[in-house]
Amino acid sequence: MRKLLITGGAGFIGSHVVRRFVRRYPDYQIVNLDKLTYAGNLENLRDVENSPNYRFVRADILDSAFIHSFLRDEQFDGIIHLAAESHVDRSLENPADFALTNIVGTLNLLHAALTAWNGRMEGKRFYHISTDEVYGSLGSTGLFTESSLIDPRSPYSASKAGSDHFVSAYHHSYGLPTLISRCSNNYGPNHFPEKLIPLMIHNILQGKPLPVYGKGENVRDWLYVEDHAAAIDLIFHKGKTSEIYNIGGNNEWKNIDLVRLLCKIMDRKMKRPAGTSDQLITFVKDRLGHDLRYAIDSTKLKSELGWSPSVDFPTGLEKTVDWYFANKEWLDHVTSGAYRAYYDRMYTNR
Ligand code: NAD
Ligand code: TYD
Repeated sequence: MRKLLITGGAGFIGSHVVRRFVRRYPDYQIVNLDKLTYAGNLENLRDVENSPNYRFVRADILDSAFIHSFLRDEQFDGIIHLAAESHVDRSLENPADFALTNIVGTLNLLHAALTAWNGRMEGKRFYHISTDEVYGSLGSTGLFTESSLIDPRSPYSASKAGSDHFVSAYHHSYGLPTLISRCSNNYGPNHFPEKLIPLMIHNILQGKPLPVYGKGENVRDWLYVEDHAAAIDLIFHKGKTSEIYNIGGNNEWKNIDLVRLLCKIMDRKMKRPAGTSDQLITFVKDRLGHDLRYAIDSTKLKSELGWSPSVDFPTGLEKTVDWYFANKEWLDHVTSGAYRAYYDRMYTNR
């Protein structure tokens, strides 16, 4: 029996990680701790919420007193930390929120784990989920490796880099058994429609403009979210303490090409002439400091732990689009209220 804390489990990636662990490890006790911000949604976990090995706790990782007493009382064997503010555009609007949640929140968890484990570190693991964005931006060639310079350029990536440094510091200073992984852009079901792929799907469904930043020349490396969850499972169980692992899809797309591909898939699914959705494409003002290209070298994870992505991009995109068609109610729920105000602010006059 192992007792595992997953933070941010009501969010996009976290919900896939929770589902995977609850289903694959019936003898583990899985606790999902989440504040349920705009990005956290318990509807993501309907299918596993009544599982006997699963429990949800609503809490804020910034609530240091609660986090300390909770970790001390529960005595988890492992922690997989995904809770974060995760959207670059929001970080440009409210950098301090990102510093607080991502840096101070992570620091609270690290210190609470250290105190709770109180020197008994054998078999324990504190696994921090980070991002390739901490490496900054690439030119048209090259790949990020685990030894690339940490060179964040947005408030989001700076806050993630800050949290990564604290994780390393807790290993080196206090011997906390830590792991870090840095993944490329994820896509798949349950993705909040503020990020590129779900936002475009949502807008095509609504017949709204498709806002492509700048000239659409920026490149991202896309990985299906379940492949990220599988990598997290592997690294949590087999990764070497204190190590960093890059995770990537080896699947680079220019934004404009990706948006055009999505338009093609959506037109086919909506049984309308090819080219219909393309007419919605609108080039808008570029994001501030927009990173040109991210691309990951995941050789270490592949050669040392035997991971490789299992879902190719055409299959993953079809599955994703089908999920949004089948879950329009989910989309309606998450795009009501506060999200609408954010959307109007972000995209009006852009
Ligand atoms: P998300 O925004 O969908 O979910 C974040 C979750 O964290 C939400 O459920 C939210 O309620 C919770 N949360 C936020 N602040 C909290 C707080 N103070 N206390 C407790 N819970 C809080 O994010 P995501 O896309 O699922 O990303 C999860 C993690 O993976 C993040 O750490 C992110 O940096 C990292 N990551 C994301 C990607 C990507 O493509 N989305 C790629 C690489 C790494
Ligand atoms: P995003 O999904 O926000 O992820 P990240 O910035 O963390 O990589 O954006 C992916 C790419 O798509 C990025 O280059 C910005 C661009 N983009 C648009 O062109 N239009 C949009 O409306 C959004 C949200 C993103």
